[in-house]
Amino acid sequence: MNKTYNTNEFEANRQLEIINELKSRYDEEYQRTKVKKTFHIVTFGCQMNSRDSEKISGILKQIGYIETDTEDADFVLYNTCTVRENANNRVFGRLGHVGKLKKNRPGMLVAVCGCMMQETTAVERVKKSYPFVDIIFGTHNIFKLAELIKTRIDNESVSDKHSDRMVIDLWKDTDMIVENLPNDRKYPFKAGVNIIYGCNNFCSYCIVPYVRGRERSRNPEDILEEIRALANDGVKEVMLLGQNVNSYGKNLNPQISFAQLLKEVEKIDKIKRIRFMTSHPKDLSQELIDVMGASKKICRHLHLPLQSGSTRLLKIMNRKYTKEDYLDLVDRIRKAVPDISLTTDIIVGFPGETEEDFMETIDVVKKVGFDNAFTFLYSKRAGTPAANMECQVDENVAKERFDRLLDEIHASAAKAAGRDVNSVKDVLVEEVNSQNEDLLTGRLSNNMLVHFPGDKSLIGEIIPVYLEESKGFYYIGKQA
Ligand code: 5AD
Ligand code: SF4
Repeated sequence: MNKTYNTNEFEANRQLEIINELKSRYDEEYQRTKVKKTFHIVTFGCQMNSRDSEKISGILKQIGYIETDTEDADFVLYNTCTVRENANNRVFGRLGHVGKLKKNRPGMLVAVCGCMMQETTAVERVKKSYPFVDIIFGTHNIFKLAELIKTRIDNESVSDKHSDRMVIDLWKDTDMIVENLPNDRKYPFKAGVNIIYGCNNFCSYCIVPYVRGRERSRNPEDILEEIRALANDGVKEVMLLGQNVNSYGKNLNPQISFAQLLKEVEKIDKIKRIRFMTSHPKDLSQELIDVMGASKKICRHLHLPLQSGSTRLLKIMNRKYTKEDYLDLVDRIRKAVPDISLTTDIIVGFPGETEEDFMETIDVVKKVGFDNAFTFLYSKRAGTPAANMECQVDENVAKERFDRLLDEIHASAAKAAGRDVNSVKDVLVEEVNSQNEDLLTGRLSNNMLVHFPGDKSLIGEIIPVYLEESKGFYYIGKQA
């Protein structure tokens, strides 16, 4: 494959120089104090944010910071989400708390970044109510973190007033992808890999396209190189990440489809499992279904956000599929991949939702029989078309529907849960069980959790486990 996309090597090299400069400064300081500086990242939101936090962590570790598990640290970062109003409120709550910590910790740095910082009103609130914050940046310029830290430290001599020293760097959008900066991973045996950034769909309720910008696919060679390096480093499972992975490659020249990319990833020997997230139903191609059906490595799990079962509402939501399209898609997927586990996202109380619309959603839930679902009360996001729509649904009506939907989802999940009892399935062992040290916890290809007795040396291995009993959201098993 030819290298065609504009990845910015010049910018990467510039940032690496700044990282090294800070590292020398921090090394010198360590020689004097014999104390390493600590950092802590609080991550809100989705897998994309978790992945971004790994990149932040990679840069900080390279500079010489060590990670700690509380906010009582030399550098605390809040990587924010703004998809619903309550995500914003949680961030402001935490900022209030860290402000108090900072008073007793001279030299402590606090940064706020991520989706919420792409919104002017949220940034204004941070500036006004939390003036002790040192650095604000957004979703497009994480790669500049070292430069921002350096500017903040150099600002120390600029003014006595804290708010004058605050460093704010926010970009509205970007077409830049900066590769090959330091990186970190939470697990040694599984890793998330970004394949496409941003979203072009503008679902009428959703703020994501405004805060994450337009779709930008990574060059396939860069992705495959990253995955090969991960595989050589012991990674067995990769999760390909994007707001809408199914539009991967559309803006690349030559074009490449998501299904074609998957086929390339499959060829990497040491990668045993491939997951991806998230799929938009309108873009999920038959080609992808066929590739999944034929694959031994692509996991038997698909997260396929429905949002609503009402064709009328789906149109107003700008989802570009009907209830029938969705059901037909599910049929075709199940035909090709009979053991697939399906999960979804559903919004309740979208403006104008009637009881009839809601019952259409319940109908789809019953017909599909989801393995699980994330259910959300509609949250008004300023700047999105739905925020200005008339007929906002009464809060109590929405809550009542939400509870009914949850009952339906629980029933559907319970039905799906015990499906694999009395069979032997491969499990990727992830960790020692947090509640019982004699048990290990791992995942099936369909993403279901399994607890079973075993030695922790098995962590990171894929092993056959006999599934004895279903406990709803997990199985109890024993090594086969
Ligand atoms: N209100 C409620 N839920 C929302 N989501 C996105 N925007 C909103 C909103 N304004 C949900 C969608 C999406 C998931 C990540 O968050 O279901 O799939
Ligand atoms: Fe939001 Fe729709 Fe894009 Fe998903 S596809 S991120 S719901 S605009």
